[in-house]
Amino acid sequence: MSALVVFESIYGNTRLVAEAVARGLSESIEVEVLDVGSAPSKLMPEVALLVVGAPTHAFGLSRPNTRHDAVTKAPSPVTEPETGAREWLDTLEQAGKGVHAAAFDTRIGRGWFPGSAARAASRRLGALGFKAAIGPESFYVVGGTGPLADGEEERARQWGFELGAEIAHLPPA
Ligand SMILES: Cc1cc2nc3c(=O)[nH]c(=O)nc-3n(C[C@H](O)[C@H](O)[C@H](O)COP(=O)(O)O)c2cc1C
Repeated sequence: MSALVVFESIYGNTRLVAEAVARGLSESIEVEVLDVGSAPSKLMPEVALLVVGAPTHAFGLSRPNTRHDAVTKAPSPVTEPETGAREWLDTLEQAGKGVHAAAFDTRIGRGWFPGSAARAASRRLGALGFKAAIGPESFYVVGGTGPLADGEEERARQWGFELGAEIAHLPPA
């Protein structure tokens, strides 16, 4: 039984959260972290938990035009990703029996904008037959491009820890 964390990140904030979530998960379950550009559309049979992380762009999951926009606003040069979580989820196969999922996003500090990439990803994962292990969660950045707000990396590790503990205690599907 293992967990797979798939993330999309242009500025690096969502990557840092994904890695922190994986550290928390790894206390109770084997975990692999993959950039969305190299994530498979068919999950390995041992994957009991899929965690999807993405930046919130324009109130939801990124699109090619928002990723292009993000690249032009980057504080230091970044490569434009070929794909994002939205496109990967479009290719992802239906969940196997009893496979759980969770989603998180990064976004600008609380109360600034409505909309969350994690909520959009959760809806898509539910439509693909994944069981929600926990509700969608947001982790906050400072300013438009980051860095992560104080304490958010540790909160992400704790979120991963709690998620892993819950999955490890579930009966096998
Ligand atoms: C094009 C673009 C659109 C964005 N739209 C939103 C938004 O609607 N709501 C929000 O809270 N943050 C928004 N942000 C801020 C991003 O969510 C934030 O920069 C995120 O942490 C970036 O993640 P990354 O470092 O993994 O690329 C936007 C950023 C960009 C570049």
